[in-house]
Amino acid sequence: MRPAPGITALAETSIAAGELRLEPLRPDHAERLFDGLADPTLYRFIPQEPPADATALRARFERLAARRSPAGDQAWLNWAIRLADDSYAGLVEATVDSTGATDIAYFVLRRCQGCGIGRRAVGAVVEALAAEPAVTAIGASIDTRNAASVALVEALGFERTGLIRDADQFKGGPSDEFRYQLPFGH
Ligand SMILES: CC(C)(COP(=O)(O)OP(=O)(O)OC[C@H]1O[C@@H](n2cnc3c(N)ncnc32)[C@H](O)[C@@H]1OP(=O)(O)O)[C@@H](O)C(=O)NCCC(=O)NCCS
Repeated sequence: MRPAPGITALAETSIAAGELRLEPLRPDHAERLFDGLADPTLYRFIPQEPPADATALRARFERLAARRSPAGDQAWLNWAIRLADDSYAGLVEATVDSTGATDIAYFVLRRCQGCGIGRRAVGAVVEALAAEPAVTAIGASIDTRNAASVALVEALGFERTGLIRDADQFKGGPSDEFRYQLPFGH
């Protein structure tokens, strides 16, 4: 099933959030983000590993720039977070399934963390998603140890709706996950 036209349009839309600009992800963002995204500390609480090199990251961004999964059943909305000085601070990702249920994920590079960038960037994406009629739900699954991510979604008004023990297994141990959902009006 093809994503709704509004979702396809949103995937190509730049979003302003104060002095931050969220740019639809392009392959050439890989060179700008590689150094920051290669930091292993960003992946402590997620199964993903850092990109091996800028070429591998570019190949990944090329796949994501298709804006949809190969089977066409998911829309992939990804934005690079650009700062006022034209450097890049991270990524916001949203995956929309064929029912409109949307999951978000995000990375703020270590040197940019703790100054509200995650809250503003993710908040702006959540606001844009919530305004899109084809989006039926917005949620996130977060390792219970990931205090910064938990604080971020709670600051944005998400509510904890579940706890899944042993939800995943990575980096040598089990991962318990909280499920968060944004209370939804439409
Ligand atoms: C999660 C992440 C995006 C937060 O980004 P950030 O820009 O540092 O977050 P902000 O500065 O906007 O802070 C958001 C909230 O988290 C809190 N917070 C930030 N870092 C924290 C930490 N290490 N421990 C506890 N709370 C923290 C802030 O106080 C703020 O809460 P408040 O608004 O109630 O004060 C960032 O830590 C990150 O990229 N982590 C690695 C990747 C990752 O785990 N992504 C999530 C996968 S589910």
